[in-house]
Amino acid sequence: MKVLVINGPNLARLDIRDSAIYGDMSYPQLIAHIESAAKTHGFTADVRQSDDEATIISWLHEAADGSIPVIINPAAFTHYSYAIRDAAELVKAPLIEVHLSNPLAREEFRHTSVISGVANGTIGGFGPNSYVLALIALKALTS
Ligand code: DQA
Repeated sequence: MKVLVINGPNLARLDIRDSAIYGDMSYPQLIAHIESAAKTHGFTADVRQSDDEATIISWLHEAADGSIPVIINPAAFTHYSYAIRDAAELVKAPLIEVHLSNPLAREEFRHTSVISGVANGTIGGFGPNSYVLALIALKALTS
């Protein structure tokens, strides 16, 4: 089964983000980590990243139209993009929100997620393994 993994703004620049928060993995390494875990759990991961809200919305529309399950790290859009929230709501296949860090343990503006209410669940704080845990949850939801 295919899973669309959507990463939001600045995640392709993990190499220059704060490694104390986001860890040591580069974005290409994160993609390989997700692809390999997806294979282990019987999925084919289509891993994408965009800094652009409209592009992310178009990918969510694609998932909605194709009934494709989604794992999404909306990055900073998590905290304020009602447009991404509304697009995520259109996805009827499972949709899981993930974060590398634990937003609830960080600045107050990160404590709000406008996406969580339309996700099956949210996993954060486990670094790249947040995606692996999401794949395990997705497997349980789809089998
Ligand atoms: C993030 C957390 C967000 O608050 C932040 O804006 C990000 C990454 C995470 O994966 O921990 O860019 O989504």
